Amino acid sequence: MDYTLITGACGGLGGAFTRLLAKQNVPLMLTGRSGERLSSLRTDLLSQYPDLPIEIFPCDLRDEDSRAALFSHADEKGIRFCRLVYVAGVDTQMAFEKYDEGRIITQSRVNFEGAVSFIGHFLARAPLDGNTEILCVGSVTSIMPEPYFALYAATKKALEYFTMALRTELKGRAKVTCVLPGGMPTRDDIKENIEAHGGYGALSAMQPEEVAAKALKAVKKNKRRTIVGFWNKLTNFGSSLIPMSLRISFAAKVWKNTQKDFYGE
Ligand SMILES: NC(=O)c1ccc[n+]([C@@H]2O[C@H](COP(=O)([O-])OP(=O)(O)OC[C@H]3O[C@@H](n4cnc5c(N)ncnc54)[C@H](OP(=O)(O)O)[C@@H]3O)[C@@H](O)[C@H]2O)c1
Repeated sequence: MDYTLITGACGGLGGAFTRLLAKQNVPLMLTGRSGERLSSLRTDLLSQYPDLPIEIFPCDLRDEDSRAALFSHADEKGIRFCRLVYVAGVDTQMAFEKYDEGRIITQSRVNFEGAVSFIGHFLARAPLDGNTEILCVGSVTSIMPEPYFALYAATKKALEYFTMALRTELKGRAKVTCVLPGGMPTRDDIKENIEAHGGYGALSAMQPEEVAAKALKAVKKNKRRTIVGFWNKLTNFGSSLIPMSLRISFAAKVWKNTQKDFYGE
Protein backbone atom coordinates (compact mmCIF):
# COMPACT_ATOMS: atom_id res chain seq x y z
CA MET A 1 0.00 0.00 0.00
CA ASP A 2 1.59 3.29 -1.10
CA TYR A 3 1.05 6.53 0.79
CA THR A 4 0.55 10.16 -0.16
CA LEU A 5 2.83 12.41 1.87
CA ILE A 6 1.41 15.89 2.58
CA THR A 7 3.39 18.75 4.15
CA GLY A 8 1.52 21.65 5.75
CA ALA A 9 -1.35 19.22 6.38
CA CYS A 10 -2.75 21.25 9.31
CA GLY A 11 -2.84 24.47 7.27
CA GLY A 12 -5.57 25.95 5.07
CA LEU A 13 -4.61 24.53 1.68
CA GLY A 14 -2.84 21.47 3.12
CA GLY A 15 -5.99 20.67 5.10
CA ALA A 16 -8.05 20.91 1.91
CA PHE A 17 -5.73 18.42 0.14
CA THR A 18 -5.88 16.14 3.17
CA ARG A 19 -9.68 16.11 3.38
CA LEU A 20 -10.07 15.61 -0.35
CA LEU A 21 -7.67 12.65 -0.47
CA ALA A 22 -9.12 11.13 2.73
CA LYS A 23 -12.54 11.19 1.06
CA GLN A 24 -10.99 9.23 -1.83
CA ASN A 25 -9.69 6.66 0.68
CA VAL A 26 -6.03 7.43 -0.09
CA PRO A 27 -3.52 6.28 2.59
CA LEU A 28 -1.97 9.41 4.07
CA MET A 29 1.20 10.42 5.84
CA LEU A 30 0.70 13.91 7.23
CA THR A 31 3.25 16.34 8.56
CA GLY A 32 3.47 19.78 10.13
CA ARG A 33 5.39 21.17 13.10
CA SER A 34 2.93 20.39 15.87
CA GLY A 35 2.44 16.78 16.96
CA GLU A 36 -0.65 17.88 18.89
CA ARG A 37 -2.34 19.46 15.87
CA LEU A 38 -1.45 16.48 13.69
CA SER A 39 -2.89 14.13 16.27
CA SER A 40 -6.16 16.02 16.47
CA LEU A 41 -6.35 16.14 12.65
CA ARG A 42 -5.85 12.36 12.57
CA THR A 43 -8.57 11.82 15.20
CA ASP A 44 -10.94 14.02 13.24
CA LEU A 45 -10.27 12.16 9.97
CA LEU A 46 -10.60 8.75 11.61
CA SER A 47 -14.00 9.73 13.03
CA GLN A 48 -15.17 10.05 9.42
CA TYR A 49 -13.02 7.36 7.79
CA PRO A 50 -12.28 4.77 10.51
CA ASP A 51 -10.39 2.37 8.20
CA LEU A 52 -8.20 4.96 6.51
CA PRO A 53 -4.45 4.36 7.01
CA ILE A 54 -3.13 7.66 8.43
CA GLU A 55 0.42 8.17 9.68
CA ILE A 56 1.48 11.42 11.31
CA PHE A 57 4.96 12.65 12.05
CA PRO A 58 5.96 16.17 13.13
CA CYS A 59 8.74 17.79 11.13
CA ASP A 60 10.29 21.23 11.05
CA LEU A 61 11.07 21.68 7.38
CA ARG A 62 13.86 24.15 8.17
CA ASP A 63 15.87 21.43 9.85
CA GLU A 64 17.68 18.70 7.88
CA ASP A 65 17.75 16.32 10.86
CA SER A 66 14.02 16.73 11.38
CA ARG A 67 13.42 16.05 7.66
CA ALA A 68 15.62 12.94 7.75
CA ALA A 69 13.85 11.71 10.93
CA LEU A 70 10.50 11.71 9.14
CA PHE A 71 11.80 9.47 6.37
CA SER A 72 13.62 7.18 8.84
CA HIS A 73 10.29 6.79 10.64
CA ALA A 74 8.62 5.90 7.32
CA ASP A 75 11.36 3.33 6.65
CA GLU A 76 10.93 1.77 10.09
CA LYS A 77 7.21 1.45 9.44
CA GLY A 78 7.80 0.03 5.94
CA ILE A 79 5.96 2.95 4.33
CA ARG A 80 6.42 3.56 0.60
CA PHE A 81 5.16 6.64 -1.16
CA CYS A 82 3.39 7.14 -4.48
CA ARG A 83 2.62 10.87 -4.19
CA LEU A 84 4.21 13.92 -2.54
CA VAL A 85 2.11 17.04 -2.03
CA TYR A 86 4.44 19.78 -0.78
CA VAL A 87 2.13 22.51 0.47
CA ALA A 88 4.07 24.06 3.35
CA GLY A 89 5.12 27.63 2.78
CA VAL A 90 5.88 30.82 4.66
CA ASP A 91 4.39 33.96 3.14
CA THR A 92 6.06 36.79 5.05
CA GLN A 93 5.33 39.95 3.07
CA MET A 94 7.08 43.20 3.95
CA ALA A 95 9.94 45.45 2.88
CA PHE A 96 13.10 43.36 2.81
CA GLU A 97 14.91 45.80 5.14
CA LYS A 98 12.49 44.75 7.89
CA TYR A 99 13.58 41.11 7.66
CA ASP A 100 15.89 39.64 10.28
CA GLU A 101 18.05 36.53 9.80
CA GLY A 102 15.34 34.22 11.21
CA ARG A 103 12.78 35.40 8.68
CA ILE A 104 15.26 35.02 5.81
CA ILE A 105 16.26 31.50 6.84
CA THR A 106 12.72 30.35 7.56
CA GLN A 107 11.21 31.56 4.32
CA SER A 108 14.07 30.29 2.16
CA ARG A 109 14.23 26.88 3.81
CA VAL A 110 10.53 26.07 4.12
CA ASN A 111 9.62 27.34 0.65
CA PHE A 112 12.56 25.94 -1.29
CA GLU A 113 15.23 23.93 0.52
CA GLY A 114 12.64 21.82 2.37
CA ALA A 115 10.81 21.04 -0.87
CA VAL A 116 13.96 20.00 -2.72
CA SER A 117 15.11 17.91 0.23
CA PHE A 118 11.71 16.21 0.58
CA ILE A 119 11.66 15.44 -3.14
CA GLY A 120 15.10 13.81 -2.82
CA HIS A 121 14.03 11.65 0.15
CA PHE A 122 10.71 10.86 -1.56
CA LEU A 123 12.27 9.71 -4.83
CA ALA A 124 14.38 7.16 -2.97
CA ARG A 125 11.17 5.61 -1.63
CA ALA A 126 8.81 5.84 -4.60
CA PRO A 127 8.13 3.19 -7.27
CA LEU A 128 8.89 5.60 -10.15
CA ASP A 129 6.61 3.52 -12.36
CA GLY A 130 5.22 6.44 -14.34
CA ASN A 131 2.33 6.95 -11.90
CA THR A 132 4.39 8.49 -9.11
CA GLU A 133 3.26 12.11 -8.53
CA ILE A 134 5.08 15.14 -7.16
CA LEU A 135 2.94 18.21 -6.65
CA CYS A 136 4.50 21.39 -5.31
CA VAL A 137 2.59 24.50 -4.32
CA GLY A 138 4.12 27.65 -5.75
CA SER A 139 2.34 30.98 -6.06
CA VAL A 140 1.07 33.25 -8.79
CA THR A 141 3.26 35.97 -7.23
CA SER A 142 6.23 34.23 -8.85
CA ILE A 143 5.19 35.33 -12.35
CA MET A 144 7.28 38.48 -11.83
CA PRO A 145 9.68 40.02 -9.31
CA GLU A 146 7.55 41.45 -6.48
CA PRO A 147 8.94 44.39 -4.47
CA TYR A 148 7.81 44.17 -0.80
CA PHE A 149 7.16 40.44 -1.37
CA ALA A 150 10.57 39.88 -2.90
CA LEU A 151 11.94 36.86 -1.05
CA TYR A 152 8.64 34.97 -1.12
CA ALA A 153 8.22 35.46 -4.88
CA ALA A 154 11.86 34.49 -5.46
CA THR A 155 11.59 31.27 -3.42
CA LYS A 156 8.41 30.30 -5.25
CA LYS A 157 10.07 31.03 -8.61
CA ALA A 158 13.02 28.85 -7.61
CA LEU A 159 10.60 26.05 -6.70
CA GLU A 160 8.78 26.43 -9.99
CA TYR A 161 11.98 26.29 -12.07
CA PHE A 162 13.36 23.38 -10.07
CA THR A 163 10.22 21.28 -10.57
CA MET A 164 10.03 22.18 -14.27
CA ALA A 165 13.58 20.97 -14.81
CA LEU A 166 13.17 17.86 -12.65
CA ARG A 167 10.10 16.92 -14.65
CA THR A 168 12.30 16.29 -17.67
CA GLU A 169 14.82 14.26 -15.66
CA LEU A 170 11.99 12.06 -14.39
CA LYS A 171 10.12 11.76 -17.68
CA GLY A 172 8.21 8.48 -17.93
CA ARG A 173 8.95 7.68 -14.27
CA ALA A 174 7.15 10.42 -12.34
CA LYS A 175 4.71 13.24 -12.99
CA VAL A 176 5.88 16.59 -11.61
CA THR A 177 3.64 19.65 -11.39
CA CYS A 178 4.00 23.06 -9.81
CA VAL A 179 0.66 24.66 -9.04
CA LEU A 180 0.46 28.46 -8.78
CA PRO A 181 -2.56 29.59 -6.76
CA GLY A 182 -3.59 33.21 -6.27
CA GLY A 183 -5.19 34.50 -3.06
CA MET A 184 -7.00 31.96 -0.87
CA PRO A 185 -8.70 33.12 2.34
CA THR A 186 -6.97 30.55 4.57
CA ARG A 187 -5.94 32.78 7.52
CA ASP A 188 -7.27 36.06 8.93
CA ASP A 189 -4.22 38.06 7.82
CA ILE A 190 -4.60 36.70 4.26
CA LYS A 191 -8.32 37.53 4.29
CA GLU A 192 -7.43 41.13 5.24
CA ASN A 193 -4.82 41.20 2.50
CA ILE A 194 -7.33 40.00 -0.11
CA GLU A 195 -9.81 42.65 1.07
CA ALA A 196 -7.11 45.32 0.81
CA HIS A 197 -6.81 44.46 -2.89
CA GLY A 198 -10.42 45.51 -3.43
CA GLY A 199 -12.43 44.25 -6.41
CA TYR A 200 -9.52 42.37 -7.95
CA GLY A 201 -8.83 40.60 -4.65
CA ALA A 202 -12.47 39.52 -4.39
CA LEU A 203 -12.66 38.37 -8.02
CA SER A 204 -9.41 36.42 -8.08
CA ALA A 205 -9.58 34.77 -4.63
CA MET A 206 -10.44 31.07 -4.59
CA GLN A 207 -11.35 28.63 -1.87
CA PRO A 208 -8.55 26.18 -0.96
CA GLU A 209 -10.82 23.18 -1.64
CA GLU A 210 -11.23 24.26 -5.26
CA VAL A 211 -7.51 24.89 -5.66
CA ALA A 212 -6.66 21.48 -4.17
CA ALA A 213 -9.06 19.68 -6.52
CA LYS A 214 -7.67 21.46 -9.60
CA ALA A 215 -4.09 20.85 -8.49
CA LEU A 216 -4.65 17.10 -8.08
CA LYS A 217 -6.20 16.95 -11.55
CA ALA A 218 -3.24 18.88 -12.97
CA VAL A 219 -0.64 16.47 -11.62
CA LYS A 220 -2.69 13.47 -12.75
CA LYS A 221 -2.48 14.99 -16.27
CA ASN A 222 1.24 15.66 -15.75
CA LYS A 223 0.92 19.41 -16.35
CA ARG A 224 4.21 21.26 -16.05
CA ARG A 225 2.80 24.34 -14.35
CA THR A 226 -0.76 25.30 -13.56
CA ILE A 227 -1.99 28.77 -12.73
CA VAL A 228 -5.28 28.26 -10.95
CA GLY A 229 -8.35 30.38 -11.74
CA PHE A 230 -9.54 32.52 -14.64
CA TRP A 231 -8.47 35.90 -13.15
CA ASN A 232 -5.04 34.63 -12.20
CA LYS A 233 -4.54 33.21 -15.71
CA LEU A 234 -5.70 36.50 -17.20
CA THR A 235 -3.30 38.46 -14.98
CA ASN A 236 -0.45 36.22 -16.08
CA PHE A 237 -1.31 36.67 -19.75
CA GLY A 238 -1.91 40.44 -19.42
CA SER A 239 1.32 41.01 -17.56
CA SER A 240 3.30 39.16 -20.24
CA LEU A 241 2.30 41.96 -22.65
CA ILE A 242 3.63 44.74 -20.39
CA PRO A 243 7.32 45.75 -20.15
CA MET A 244 9.03 44.28 -17.06
CA SER A 245 9.89 47.70 -15.55
CA LEU A 246 6.21 48.71 -15.56
CA ARG A 247 5.16 45.35 -14.15
CA ILE A 248 7.61 45.68 -11.27
CA SER A 249 6.49 49.25 -10.48
CA PHE A 250 2.90 48.08 -10.49
CA ALA A 251 3.70 45.16 -8.17
CA ALA A 252 5.44 47.57 -5.78
CA LYS A 253 2.28 49.70 -5.59
CA VAL A 254 0.17 46.61 -4.92
CA TRP A 255 2.29 45.33 -2.03
CA LYS A 256 3.77 48.49 -0.51
CA ASN A 257 0.83 49.26 1.77
CA THR A 258 0.17 45.77 3.11
CA GLN A 259 2.19 43.51 5.36
CA LYS A 260 2.00 39.85 6.45
CA ASP A 261 4.36 38.68 9.13
CA PHE A 262 2.93 35.29 10.03
CA TYR A 263 5.67 32.76 10.08
CA GLY A 264 4.82 30.79 13.16
CA GLU A 265 8.06 31.19 15.11
N1 LIG B 1 -3.29 31.59 0.95
C1 LIG B 1 -2.86 32.20 -0.14
O1 LIG B 1 -3.37 33.28 -0.52
C2 LIG B 1 -1.78 31.57 -0.98
C3 LIG B 1 -1.58 32.04 -2.29
C4 LIG B 1 -0.61 31.46 -3.08
C5 LIG B 1 0.14 30.42 -2.58
N2 LIG B 1 -0.06 29.99 -1.30
C6 LIG B 1 0.78 28.89 -0.82
O2 LIG B 1 -0.07 27.85 -0.38
C7 LIG B 1 0.59 27.11 0.64
C8 LIG B 1 -0.35 26.93 1.83
O3 LIG B 1 -0.65 28.19 2.36
P1 LIG B 1 -1.94 28.44 3.28
O4 LIG B 1 -2.61 29.62 2.72
O5 LIG B 1 -2.68 27.18 3.47
O6 LIG B 1 -1.24 28.92 4.63
P2 LIG B 1 -1.14 28.22 6.06
O7 LIG B 1 -2.48 27.78 6.52
O8 LIG B 1 -0.36 29.17 6.92
O9 LIG B 1 -0.26 26.92 5.75
C9 LIG B 1 1.14 26.96 5.70
C10 LIG B 1 1.63 25.62 6.18
O10 LIG B 1 3.07 25.63 6.16
C11 LIG B 1 3.51 24.88 7.27
N3 LIG B 1 4.80 25.35 7.76
C12 LIG B 1 5.23 26.63 7.98
N4 LIG B 1 6.47 26.63 8.49
C13 LIG B 1 6.83 25.32 8.62
C14 LIG B 1 8.00 24.67 9.09
N5 LIG B 1 9.05 25.36 9.57
N6 LIG B 1 8.02 23.32 9.08
C15 LIG B 1 6.96 22.59 8.65
N7 LIG B 1 5.83 23.15 8.16
C16 LIG B 1 5.77 24.50 8.15
C17 LIG B 1 2.50 25.13 8.37
O11 LIG B 1 2.42 23.95 9.15
P3 LIG B 1 2.33 23.98 10.76
O12 LIG B 1 1.91 25.36 11.19
O13 LIG B 1 1.33 22.91 11.05
O14 LIG B 1 3.69 23.63 11.20
C18 LIG B 1 1.19 25.34 7.61
O15 LIG B 1 0.42 24.18 7.62
C19 LIG B 1 1.89 27.85 0.96
O16 LIG B 1 2.95 27.25 0.26
C20 LIG B 1 1.63 29.24 0.41
O17 LIG B 1 2.82 29.89 0.03
C21 LIG B 1 -0.99 30.54 -0.49
